[in-house]
Amino acid sequence: MQREGLHAARGRSRTVWKNGQSSLPRFRELGAYHGQGDSRNGVAQLSLCWPWGGGVSQDWSQEGDDLAGVFRKHMVAAAAIRDTRALPPAVKALQTFVRVNVHDVGGPGVILLHVCCFQPHGARLRHSRGLLVTRVGMDRLKVLAGHFVAGGPASELDSRQTSAEASEPPTSIDVKYRARSNINDRGAYEALYKGSIQEPDKFWGKQGSQYAWKQQFQEQHVDCNIDVRRGKIRSRWFAGGLTNLAFNCLDRHVEDGRGDQPCFLWEGNDVGQDRVLTYRDTLAEVCRLGNWLRSQGISKGDVVAIYMPMVAELPIAMLACVRIGAIHNVVFGGFSADALAARVADSRARIIITSSTSVRGKKSTPLKQIVDQACKLASKEGFKVDKVLVLEHSALPKGKTPWTQGRDLWWADELSQQKPQCDVEWLPAEAPSFLLYTSGSTGKPKGVQHSTGGFMVGAGTTAKYVFDLQPGDVFWCTADCGWITGHTYLTYAPLLLGATSVIFEGVPVHPDPGRVWQIVAKYKVRQLYTAPTLIRALEAQDHKWVTKHDRSSLKLLGTVGEPINPRAWQWFHEVVGESRCPIVDTWWQTETGMIMIAALPGAWPLKPGCATLPLFGVLPVLLDSEGKEIKGAGEGVLVLKQAWPAMMQTLLNNQQRFEETYFAPQKGFYFTGDGARRDEDGYIWITGRVDDVINVSGHRVGTAEVEGALSSHAACDEAAVVGVEHKVKGQGIYAFVTLHSDSDYSDATRKELVKLVREQIGAFAAPDTIHWAPGLPKTRSGKILRRVLLKIAKGETKDLGDLSSLADSSVVDKLIERRGK
Ligand code: WTA
Repeated sequence: MQREGLHAARGRSRTVWKNGQSSLPRFRELGAYHGQGDSRNGVAQLSLCWPWGGGVSQDWSQEGDDLAGVFRKHMVAAAAIRDTRALPPAVKALQTFVRVNVHDVGGPGVILLHVCCFQPHGARLRHSRGLLVTRVGMDRLKVLAGHFVAGGPASELDSRQTSAEASEPPTSIDVKYRARSNINDRGAYEALYKGSIQEPDKFWGKQGSQYAWKQQFQEQHVDCNIDVRRGKIRSRWFAGGLTNLAFNCLDRHVEDGRGDQPCFLWEGNDVGQDRVLTYRDTLAEVCRLGNWLRSQGISKGDVVAIYMPMVAELPIAMLACVRIGAIHNVVFGGFSADALAARVADSRARIIITSSTSVRGKKSTPLKQIVDQACKLASKEGFKVDKVLVLEHSALPKGKTPWTQGRDLWWADELSQQKPQCDVEWLPAEAPSFLLYTSGSTGKPKGVQHSTGGFMVGAGTTAKYVFDLQPGDVFWCTADCGWITGHTYLTYAPLLLGATSVIFEGVPVHPDPGRVWQIVAKYKVRQLYTAPTLIRALEAQDHKWVTKHDRSSLKLLGTVGEPINPRAWQWFHEVVGESRCPIVDTWWQTETGMIMIAALPGAWPLKPGCATLPLFGVLPVLLDSEGKEIKGAGEGVLVLKQAWPAMMQTLLNNQQRFEETYFAPQKGFYFTGDGARRDEDGYIWITGRVDDVINVSGHRVGTAEVEGALSSHAACDEAAVVGVEHKVKGQGIYAFVTLHSDSDYSDATRKELVKLVREQIGAFAAPDTIHWAPGLPKTRSGKILRRVLLKIAKGETKDLGDLSSLADSSVVDKLIERRGK
């Protein structure tokens, strides 16, 4: 039987070709690449670039409906691939079978060329040059397939797969996935993308009209400036519109008759602890809390701090705030009392919502006790917290929770007295919705402020396209609500689109390393969105922890927070996703509020470790070291040339720092702080931070913050921190510390230093290594040469580069000598 379309490319079963010419041995697909041509105006151009470099570009004229003619011409392009001299040795070494499919995907004149590389399992592939032409339905898919063999010695597949540097050939587009996708054709994307850049009012107006507005926004609703030379930086969207995030997340769906659909599926730390909250249940609890907040005098523009474990009440508290126009400030439950106090005082949050404790795996963190300390610290700084609302956690009941009469109140006692209806506060689109503190290159965390309307539409639109999120889908974002991902893609986007959001309180390895896959099976999760650090931690375990659980519900996998290495990607793709789920690698930031660069997996092929192309309204530019735009392939600093709806509005109380940090470094652009590479296909690869920010398990930690904490030790003279590669965490923290001359360089001091970082920031920021440094490599003007420290930390001490600018180069030898001691 003739196997059709892209699925034939999988080659897992015996493939018998229509012409009966050969029954090919089983093949393993090594990778695929898609070229694209446009055959309008009778002339078509087809460009085909191999991911490992080189490629072909072919012009030909379209001869009406003469498929055979078109095919012959395509084969000219395909024939060029037969010239294996263009291939790098690792690929050339493969005994490779290359198959070419040419698709007319139905769009006006758009032709896709699909090329797959196969490696035969076992049997040696005989030289074969048969060509095959098949027509499968004139209107839909016209498949023209041919195959030929490029000979060569045996395979070295594994070395290719584990090489972190290797640029993987892209995977093919899954046909079934494509069929359901919102956008399933690159041409359709290109057209929409162009519109989003050239006519943002129109494009976003159309997206915005899919939500509920008390008062419709104006037709010309966008007013932005991201060029410091043209005055104040501003990003205003949906001007004139009045809306409410909570209304759009909850009431709208209940009014549409979907009140009984699960909104949150909560899974506790231990197996057997779970809870289903329907949209109606969630709305009622949000209303009770909204009423309670109002009863405490909280209204539009007031800030409420939330410091909670991953219980359903955390997103409920966020929704209650936005319902009444209050601004939430969620502080990650892993932050210390000092860090919490700083964030509460800076945002002037009179109310803190917390829980008696938090349990993750076997470890409890007494959140309420930490809140008590934070309140004391804040009051020393002159800021008083009025009320602390405490949710009773089953692991720490009422009687055992420390209590301050008059200030502390129990969630259940207070909310039981409130009505389950609460009037919505209709807000101008540009009203702030939340604050989220994040690390930067200076010591003080920044209070990133987000809008209401722009954030809402940005969140919903990106989830609709990237995750193909549809009403009723069970979506699991494993991020904590203490980070932006938990805001945008655990709380707001899934609810805006009427999906069901899974909340997990525990850790992936408790009670065993199969916990994540057990939850996937239990709730029949459709889209799983997680971080490379979790993937790497679970990849290290026996595969049976994955395979023993049913993952057939999974249709899409997603990653965020840091670059994903090809090996982890392969494991996620093959073992977890059974090679049938596309993986979307999503690049974005706390400041961007929404995903900015990611694949639409129904529309173009993926490459492992690559975020691929910009989403609607996102105009990425790479700048070279002189600040010049890099056109085409190249590597540089990633900046954005245009404002987008979910863009941060400002830094709380600090417009000046906002402008200096993000818009002054490269005038006319938003500066991301990341480096990136663009390949020959226009795909964007994020290469990591170019500023002093370390990415530990996907959490941003400013080197200056850690250095500040270390320097607060009485014996510490100076500290310098760099990020080094870490097997699981992505990056680990490596600290060079100089003590006062009379101090003792002992293990006890090391422990004290680490403890200080834990206390002042949180356990996740604790240095993995403290390297005793009798002196730091500095220039004559006193600037620390971090690139030298980084090389020493990595053990690359043979080639330290140019050291001539150092005031005292003997420091370097002393540092090398002390490495590992
Ligand atoms: C990094 C998280 C590579 C990047 C949403 C960025 C990534 C920082 C990716 C923002 C990705 C995020 N590939 N790197 N797909 N996604 N990053 O604010 O360095 O916690 O600047 O937001 O994480 O971290 P943040």
